[in-house]
Amino acid sequence: MGPQTPAPRSQNIVWHHANVSPDERAAALGARGCVLWLTGLSGSGKSTIGRRVEQLLLDRRAHAFVIDGDNVRHGLNRDLGFGPADRTENIRRIGEVAKLFSEACVLTLTAFISPYRSDRAAVRALLPPGAFVEVFIDTPLEICEARDPKGLYQKARAGEIAEFTGISAPYEAPEAPEIHLRTAGRTVDDCAAEVVSWLAAQGFLSA
Ligand code: ADX
Repeated sequence: MGPQTPAPRSQNIVWHHANVSPDERAAALGARGCVLWLTGLSGSGKSTIGRRVEQLLLDRRAHAFVIDGDNVRHGLNRDLGFGPADRTENIRRIGEVAKLFSEACVLTLTAFISPYRSDRAAVRALLPPGAFVEVFIDTPLEICEARDPKGLYQKARAGEIAEFTGISAPYEAPEAPEIHLRTAGRTVDDCAAEVVSWLAAQGFLSA
């Protein structure tokens, strides 16, 4: 796969190709990678479901890994806030990292609100056809707010957090996600099992 546009700022850098093709790598490892892009409101269950899927996949000896929103904001993206431009840059960087993991044949789960459709579409465009799997963690705002695991909705309602998704900043729901998980009234295990079944049906898991 070649370099992406827009062009890098520096000149005199060239794209290096691996000695093994993507197909040869997948054959050697007995696995193909993909990006399971979990999107949904804060408190919708992205991380919890993602981590359960990761565990179920590892139980099957599949190479799975979760890249989690809050954790990435402690490291790689600690310079970014929650205004629209910073959220776009957050998702762009994670998209690039997830692409590398996927190329390394990892079943890569990402758990970011990723509220803007255009940002998610840009990540989809980075990846080969079929490798970007949008998973809508569809939990109504009322439920997320009632859970309020970090007390952030309460702060947002009190005006102590600006641009809080669902309260004072938008969330653009996916229009055609590969997997649409309506979580209300369902258990984490049930939701996670649906994701694993989807992967199996699509040939991402060996028998
Ligand atoms: S994203 O919009 O850029 O994709 P990301 O998933 O990385 O967001 O981070 C979201 C987490 O940051 C939330 O679960 C919440 O814990 C915390 N957070 C802090 N401030 C905000 C805010 N203004 N809007 C949404 N989440 C916030």
